[in-house]
Amino acid sequence: MPEKYDFLILGSGGAGLSFALRVARYGTVAIVTKKDSTESNTNYAQGGLASVLDRRDRFEDHVNDTIVAGAGLCHPGIVEMVVREGPDVVKELLDWGARFSTRDGILDLGREGGHSHNRIVHAADRTGKEIEQTLLTALDDHPNISIFEHHFALELITQHHLGRIVTRYDNDISCYGAYVLNTQTRKVGVILAKATLLATGGVGEVYLHSTNPSIATGDGIAMAFRAKARVANMEFMQFHPTTLNVPEANSFLISEAVRGKGGILRDRSGKTFMKDYDKRAELAPRDIVARSIDDYLKKSGDNTVYLDVTHIDKNILTESFPHIMETCRKYGIDIASEWIPVVPAAHYLCGGVLTDQDGRTSINGLFCAGESACTGLHGANRLASNSLLEAMVFSKRAAVVAADYMKDSQWVTGVPEWDDSGTTNVEESILISHNKQELQQVMWNYVGIVRSDLRLQRAFRRTGLVYEETEDFYRRTRVSVELCELRNLIANAYIIIRSAMSRKESRGLHYTTDYPCRIEEACRDTVI
Ligand code: FAD
Ligand code: SIN
Repeated sequence: MPEKYDFLILGSGGAGLSFALRVARYGTVAIVTKKDSTESNTNYAQGGLASVLDRRDRFEDHVNDTIVAGAGLCHPGIVEMVVREGPDVVKELLDWGARFSTRDGILDLGREGGHSHNRIVHAADRTGKEIEQTLLTALDDHPNISIFEHHFALELITQHHLGRIVTRYDNDISCYGAYVLNTQTRKVGVILAKATLLATGGVGEVYLHSTNPSIATGDGIAMAFRAKARVANMEFMQFHPTTLNVPEANSFLISEAVRGKGGILRDRSGKTFMKDYDKRAELAPRDIVARSIDDYLKKSGDNTVYLDVTHIDKNILTESFPHIMETCRKYGIDIASEWIPVVPAAHYLCGGVLTDQDGRTSINGLFCAGESACTGLHGANRLASNSLLEAMVFSKRAAVVAADYMKDSQWVTGVPEWDDSGTTNVEESILISHNKQELQQVMWNYVGIVRSDLRLQRAFRRTGLVYEETEDFYRRTRVSVELCELRNLIANAYIIIRSAMSRKESRGLHYTTDYPCRIEEACRDTVI
């Protein structure tokens, strides 16, 4: 028997949890999350959430900074709306119990690249953890909310599962819930819902080096793509300029807020170089800083640059960056007296499932918020700390329209059980990890910070081979999380490469040596 809820939420990061808190007053809610409920990109966010809260700051300035970073592709109406709704979502988080850093009784606002004012609300350097914990505590024991940890969403249920042939040209596709794998019992169940929110986050895992935790495998985007939703702007993958360059540190993020406090980039001889690339130096938007570091490393032949904070008062470092200090210390670096070795790594996906201003996707009954969505806010490059803001604003807006949608919907009948006849238990799971490593390496080498037609074609061919092998394996094998994540990563890689191939210009995060300039006729979203 299928389980039935009014709302189904896929993902327990900032977008999913805040949506749950908002819709729970209208009906029953199931939150499905593939690991522990805290495990999400949200939980690792350091810098904070951008919002205009200082008397000297202005909405117009935050709008302008966002649009400048977005390199011509932001949707100005969406930017205006999100920026103006920022202070309300900060207030809501405070009301739910978030303890953000304060100075003299008022919120302490940090600074990050591309921002013309101090406007980053933060909880020292663990803002995401504070938000995640606040939301989980607020919904703890809520009578209408059930959280299914260690449950992996496999596929969205649409008319396709009722026997109809669904194509990308249909405009009446509806979502009725999802097939979900209980990763402990290994049983696949059906969860039916009147409204479904996709809040499964980004896809950092598609690259060899990424700041993201391992959950970031683009599952929601791949599921939506297979269900024939419209997906947009996937070529715009943001690389964070400064991640700890120590092999065991797994691309641990050194927050942009460190440069906001005065951190300086140096080469191994101590020379500064950012001013040679941009007059804003260390506080240029992060695509520029990441590309500058990449270029500097290629020209110098070095394999690292350094972030120097030794001139900053130790008390300020201790108060502002306790987590970064502690983590660096674990790897033998005392940041108060030693430079931090840093390199760029994949960080944030600006593209995703296309939504309107209220988080509606092109599939009826399917809403999307957070990093898996492409809302029009970020354009070709996201401004620092605008994504937690976007996740909060869009989950709030989507909650209003999803609650309305739910009232007029019924649970669908006749959804078949998951069919795994003809499959067997995985014989050689090592093949899955080999294919994943190959894919990550290909994406890192050929679809990274600097691209070219030749590199993209090479990536396309190699990914095609990995795709064929994996699909063959999938047809013969009982579903497992590892195999499904690999399929989803391949689907994301395919869309990223195709989108990058179709953009014959350089804009924002997409830089190609074959078309190094911005071309005005190409100033449009890439919609697949
Ligand atoms: P997530 O928080 O990633 O949540 C996704 C959820 O979906 C997880 O619970 C995951 O387990 C679940 N899930 C995924 N697939 C499935 C599936 N198949 N079945 C079931 N569950 C699934 N942004 C800022 O604005 N400011 C910052 O300071 C900042 N710092 C960052 C630092 C780091 C290290 C990282 C990685 C990101 C940072 N970001 C920051 C980006 C920001 O954290 C994310 O974009 C945002 O938190 C995304 O929220 P989300 O709810 O959309 O997704
Ligand atoms: C950071 O703290 O540098 C990350 C901020 C962000 O990704 O917005």
